[in-house]
Amino acid sequence: MKRSRELGSVETPILDCLMRHAARERASFHVPGHHGRYLPQPLSAWLGQAIKLDLTELPGLDNFHSASECIAASEKLCARHYGAYRTYYSVNGATACVMAALKGACPVPGQRVLIAGPCHMSVWRGLVYADASPVFVPTRWHAERQAFDPPSPALLEVALRRCADVRAVFVTSPTYQGLVADVRGLAEAAHRHGALLLVDEAHGAHFGLDPRLPPHSVAEGADVVIQSPHKTLPCLTQAAWVHVMRPELADAIHEALLFLHTTSPSYLLLAALDAAQAFLRSGQDLVKETLDRLQAYRAFDAGTDPMRLWIPTGSKARGAQLAKRLEDAGMFLEYWDASGALALFGFGQTEREVARFFEVYRTWREEAGEVTSDGGWAGADLYEAPAELAVRPGVIHHAPGRRVPLREAVGHIAKRPVAPYPPGVPALWPGQVVSERHAELLARLWEDGHDVVGVGADGTIEVCDA
Ligand SMILES: Cc1ncc(COP(=O)(O)O)c(C=O)c1O
Repeated sequence: MKRSRELGSVETPILDCLMRHAARERASFHVPGHHGRYLPQPLSAWLGQAIKLDLTELPGLDNFHSASECIAASEKLCARHYGAYRTYYSVNGATACVMAALKGACPVPGQRVLIAGPCHMSVWRGLVYADASPVFVPTRWHAERQAFDPPSPALLEVALRRCADVRAVFVTSPTYQGLVADVRGLAEAAHRHGALLLVDEAHGAHFGLDPRLPPHSVAEGADVVIQSPHKTLPCLTQAAWVHVMRPELADAIHEALLFLHTTSPSYLLLAALDAAQAFLRSGQDLVKETLDRLQAYRAFDAGTDPMRLWIPTGSKARGAQLAKRLEDAGMFLEYWDASGALALFGFGQTEREVARFFEVYRTWREEAGEVTSDGGWAGADLYEAPAELAVRPGVIHHAPGRRVPLREAVGHIAKRPVAPYPPGVPALWPGQVVSERHAELLARLWEDGHDVVGVGADGTIEVCDA
């Protein structure tokens, strides 16, 4: 197999080793069980030559758990691109990176983490893993955008003044809807108060590749940045990486990350990460071309990711209608719910695809009209005040639970997150005492037919009296 023309002279140490090995190997007497030769059809036909690169830790292919050869070299190239002290690869998604970042940054049980703004469910797992003590600081629900604002430096400054001994601040930027936080301001605020800034940039691995894209958070002064290249770069699902800027955190985060990994890492995923880091240097023309193409159809708003289009709909019926029209034309959205619909564009998306998308979207838009309110959604009140937990998520996770009807849960401690969808952000965190307001508002949402994850078909939630 030859190097692809696209990558040119850009270094791809893992791919090179895999291709060299595949060219040498005549017969395999090692795992995986397909021996580079046989997988049942039709999978075999779909995977094609890729089966030959689905190798294991053989001589010359380095060792994921103590990388010093091609994997280490590829991670180093990636770190150099972003300007990180160290970059570590994950074949277990950004989920493992978020968990490892929290564990590595907060090694002592009970250390306080301030979580500002909406965050992904992996944060809960990370809090359990690190046995950290979270304070959740909500941001404003923006009715017109049908999305939570990203956290601002001013909000963080107020929260940090009120909350002593914060070891780390954790923020998500961009949000799922593509809203980008002022990470530089957040880093300054966190550092002023002696706290680390951890940024979940799972949806922003492409940031900084063109002046029209927001800068990435490594350049903006964050201490740890988690990215999912599989979400926004040409890469394979599940492949992610974490950048560490503080030398004193590197070993702890790396160890915490390896602890969450299989002892049989997929070399297809490692090769995909290697190709993604090469794309960071070889893909500029494609990035520019794609942005030019998209810009011909829509203006880019400051503070948002131009590669994603969040379409506030404010109604499930309108979202369903848009999704159906696109699907009838063979186009599938990333996501839609009662608040809006999300389209993700990819580098290399063709003119024909983009044109067809905007044709269907604009026709729908003219008929659907603008979203002018949040449709009276009562849920925003659930996120008014910072949430201090009575018991740490890591403690409550191991305590026995039982189910009680929502309205009877007042005064009990939630054992699992309870999150209305939309917005998909937990209104109750494990370890939080259920207030009357929570019980009443969540019960009302659920009774009105709103999806509320964590509430069973019988209207109960899991609590514990620890
Ligand atoms: C903001 C955010 N962080 C982390 C994750 C976890 O990423 P992964 O799917 O790579 O594990 C997601 C997944 O959707 C996410 O949206």
